[in-house]
Amino acid sequence: MAVRRILLGVTGGIAAYKSAELVRQMKKAGLEVRVVMTRGAEAFVTPLTFQALSGEPVRTSLLDPEAEAGMGHIELAKWADQVVIAPASADFIARLAQGMADDLLATVCCATEAPIAVVPAMNQAMWSNGRTQRNIRLLEADPQIELWGPDQGAQACGDTGPGRMLEPEAILGMLNTNESQALAGKNVVITAGPTREPIDPVRYISNHSSGKMGYALASAARKAGARVTLVSGPVMLAPPAGVDVRPVTTAEDMLQAASAAVDEGCDLFIATAAVADYRPETCAGDKIKKSSDAMALPLVRNPDTLATIAGRTDAPFTVGFAAETTDVASYAVGKMQRKKLNMIVANDVSVPGLGFNSDDNAVIVFWPDGQASMGPDSKTNIARQLVAMISEHLDRAAR
Ligand code: PMT
Repeated sequence: MAVRRILLGVTGGIAAYKSAELVRQMKKAGLEVRVVMTRGAEAFVTPLTFQALSGEPVRTSLLDPEAEAGMGHIELAKWADQVVIAPASADFIARLAQGMADDLLATVCCATEAPIAVVPAMNQAMWSNGRTQRNIRLLEADPQIELWGPDQGAQACGDTGPGRMLEPEAILGMLNTNESQALAGKNVVITAGPTREPIDPVRYISNHSSGKMGYALASAARKAGARVTLVSGPVMLAPPAGVDVRPVTTAEDMLQAASAAVDEGCDLFIATAAVADYRPETCAGDKIKKSSDAMALPLVRNPDTLATIAGRTDAPFTVGFAAETTDVASYAVGKMQRKKLNMIVANDVSVPGLGFNSDDNAVIVFWPDGQASMGPDSKTNIARQLVAMISEHLDRAAR
């Protein structure tokens, strides 16, 4: 169901400043937002900031007679279509996992029937701590709760690792604000990211794919009602909410995992992965030592996942991607014909800031008797438009 009314819970952490931007973006997207802050959150950002951005009074206390005379905590819990806790501190995660109701936010989480998205933000050591991970496993097993993130990278405290809160745009992208359920009941399998082809135990051949395009598509397809399996090469991205992510390393792993996912039932297959076309003929058992000024590495052709799936007798509707630097249209159309695809999405990856490893993209979609351009725009928006367009073609093919 599309959500309109968001109850945003802000708990104590430096990432609380990003939640102010999140409220701004939610309001810009036309959502109604009410904010509940914990005592810890108030140490980082004032309620007035959230009040100004949301246009609604901010609730901070369970036992405030004046606030309870307005919208009481039970009414607040019933009002929300979706609860989002961002940032969710280690302390709040522990209290939520135990079902505690010792402040307003924890009480609202106990009282609401709306889905609860938990967006963790904490120091990497706190995130990796066994007790935090035990609480995370409890939340993962709770059907009312989804974990969004965390991301990895540099942290405010100077550490690097997992525990960064997702960026506001990514959180907004995960909210199901889409009225259309164009892929309801469909099984969708998507490949994403690069593959790594080992040379020896410490080196590999790979490319610059970040997985962002494929992860954005997986998220958009899930929001359009699909059951989504994402076969992903090694990336630094948080799994999209509600998506079955199957991690792989090499092109051969990708073929195996994608074929197994298609065997389980697949209406639509989308290949965004940047798969290495060749792999070293052998992987050395030990680290290769420098012995001369030059060396030759014999390579052999990798299997083509997309062509294999499209060539099955029970092939699903199949969409490929093509990253090109010259003659984008003719190379892309050639690949669509050669691999027997229903559609292909071409990106010109010679344009700085678009395509590989960036947040934005611009694409031309080709099908046998037509084409359409999208972008430049964020990969989130391109993914949303692609899902709408692909589902129309999928419907037409089924008629
Ligand atoms: O991951 P990002 O940083 O967000 O970047 C996104 C992207 C640029 C990687 C993506 O939008 C994209 O264009 N992916 C296709 C990359 C590519 O160059 O593909 P290709 O031309 O080598 O292959 C054509 C199609 O066949 C692709 O759908 C590919 O997934 C598939 N293929 C290719 C080779 C192979 N062995 N197996 C395959 O399945």
